[in-house]
Amino acid sequence: PINELAVTPAMGWNNWNAFGCSVNEDLLLSTAEKVAAFGLRDVGYQYIVLDDCWSAGRDKDGNLLHDSEKFPHGMKYVADRLHSLGFRFGMYSDAGSSTCGQYVGSLGYEKQDAKTFASWDVDYLKYDNCFNEGLSGTAKITSERYRTMGHALNATGRQILYSMCNWGEDYPWKWAQTVANSWRMSGDIYDSFDRPDPRCPCTGDEGYDCSFPGFHCSAMNILNKAAAFVHTSTPGAWNDLDMLEVGNGGMDDEEYKTHFSMWAAVKSPLLMGNDIAALDTKTLSILTNPAVLAVSQDPVGSPAIRRWRYYVNDTDAYGQGEIQMWSGPLFGGDQLVALLNAGNSTRTMNASLADIFYDYGPEGTAPEVNESWDIHDLWANRMDDATAQNVIDDTATNLTAFYYNATETSYKDGL
Ligand code: DGJ
Repeated sequence: PINELAVTPAMGWNNWNAFGCSVNEDLLLSTAEKVAAFGLRDVGYQYIVLDDCWSAGRDKDGNLLHDSEKFPHGMKYVADRLHSLGFRFGMYSDAGSSTCGQYVGSLGYEKQDAKTFASWDVDYLKYDNCFNEGLSGTAKITSERYRTMGHALNATGRQILYSMCNWGEDYPWKWAQTVANSWRMSGDIYDSFDRPDPRCPCTGDEGYDCSFPGFHCSAMNILNKAAAFVHTSTPGAWNDLDMLEVGNGGMDDEEYKTHFSMWAAVKSPLLMGNDIAALDTKTLSILTNPAVLAVSQDPVGSPAIRRWRYYVNDTDAYGQGEIQMWSGPLFGGDQLVALLNAGNSTRTMNASLADIFYDYGPEGTAPEVNESWDIHDLWANRMDDATAQNVIDDTATNLTAFYYNATETSYKDGL
């Protein structure tokens, strides 16, 4: 890892999915207050991240300037306010001449901009990939471009979590562990469980498809792409499946539970992407499920691996259904099992212990499979009975299970 941060996947909120370029001081600070008031800060959502569209170019010495209409008191003030509320402050720039929103980028200004961010007491930098002047296309060129900013951040002496955002271009899961704390591996998520963006050939499997901005990927597109390489995540260096859509309205609650659970299971960063002012009880109950958060933040830091995937005779957005089983180790000898039904009808699914422990163990050998396992359904009763709290029993050797039945799909119009 490049620093001591992100030992477990980062958690927080980012404005982009719900607000895009409509950012200002009040949005960030009032959101932070609500994140705290809803108890979300105290279950781990500690980074408040400002995305694109905050700047007003550079001064005559090349220093970054904030937009003083959007941020009348400046960025240091925002950092101070967030810190006093118990949060950490994330900002955004781009490894190119401009950001995707065509604000000024940091290419060639890495040291100067890193110093500016440090002087504003920034704790996290998301670093995008637009307008990269052709400095992409090989792992070497792309990694050097991102490494330059990483080194500049470290050189400030301030601990700044480094979130690389280059959409999976040049296969960052093969090399970014020594470059950043996390790396995006797909095009942008959009608020659909499994409907492919008609503009995007997002089959979701490994490859260069679905890696460009504007090519929007459903949650299942991204998950299926990640399945090929998510095992490359390790504490301090995580594959980032993009920010959450939970609560934005394009999926039903079962789909949001699945989206959230799988992001937790594979140890993606968990950045809420919804309007916190409009948070309803069900969304809150999903985002605060203590057992799922414990999976995300489990000290072992080992992403769940997809053990099998079957297409089934069903009709979902692809014209067929699919079921999957993912599993992976948790602290104390527990094992996470995710049974994922991405089709449209209810199914009974079976996972054998041999599959659940396939290719897993300290030396790559399967552990002894104890005949008595406790099974915890991490979602049981959560939606119906708000007082039921399912917790992972870390003291015994347990089989810990998710059950998903995405029995219906609901789609958002407007593509
Ligand atoms: C592309 C990124 O993938 C998004 O997450 C967001 O940061 C936008 N750029 C901002 O322009």
